[in-house]
Amino acid sequence: MKLTVDILIRKDYNEMSKTAAGFIAQLVQSKPDCVLGLATGSTPIGTYRELIRCHREEGLDFSQVTTFNLDEYLGLGVHLDQPYSLDQSYARFMYEELIKHINIKKENTHVPDGLAKDPGKFCQEYEAAIKDAGGIDLQLLGIGGDGHWAFNEPGSSLGSRTRVQALMKQTLDDNYESFYAKAGFERKNMPHFAITMGVGTILEARNILMIANGLKKADVVAQGIEGPVTAQITASAIQLHSGGITVVLDEDAASKLKHKEHYIHVERMKKEYNL
Ligand code: PGA
Repeated sequence: MKLTVDILIRKDYNEMSKTAAGFIAQLVQSKPDCVLGLATGSTPIGTYRELIRCHREEGLDFSQVTTFNLDEYLGLGVHLDQPYSLDQSYARFMYEELIKHINIKKENTHVPDGLAKDPGKFCQEYEAAIKDAGGIDLQLLGIGGDGHWAFNEPGSSLGSRTRVQALMKQTLDDNYESFYAKAGFERKNMPHFAITMGVGTILEARNILMIANGLKKADVVAQGIEGPVTAQITASAIQLHSGGITVVLDEDAASKLKHKEHYIHVERMKKEYNL
């Protein structure tokens, strides 16, 4: 594992979210026109709430920030005329959970277009748009129950680029439970395909900020961080990244890490010596 990996363990979801948001806020302050890679799912909601708080209470300014989201279900796009619960697009999620609450320019926010007529072509254009924006300064990521990054399901090449991907059973089960079932959808009506940034695309971000919480994630977190690098756990590609990597976990998600105590010592050391 690279020495540049910082693994920070926090007591609960709230603290994890505050720490993660702190890194993003710091970047926005030091580079107001930064490019953020953003993620959806239940994990980053707390991070976005904290960023909204920073904007409202501390004046954190997003007016020059550009964002690119990791993924979107194929066939879905924003439907502002529908209730949020019925519009399960990731574009809508971003709008409701972050974008509409901060002073970012809508035209600077990008979510893959799940309604693209030619998704293959769209994927190439998305890659080009990231490059044109100067690349991603910091990519926020969760980790899926099957160890995926974005929708890079097990078996995705670690060099993969933005593309259309078929979702696997565990991801469909997890997302059904977290979102679709609550909104009253039948399982058969949830989308089975998605557009996703590739693992290779994600690895080009200058910094990676991965977050995870809960016991359900403990095994995949340990495999991703301490296990072998494998396309079966695409988040294990974190070990290949050459820049700044920060992983923020709550106690539960960190509970299966073999070197947990060591990571706690490293954080203490860095704090003490201002490293
Ligand atoms: P979750 O999903 O935040 O809903 O657990 C994480 C992911 O799939 O990356």
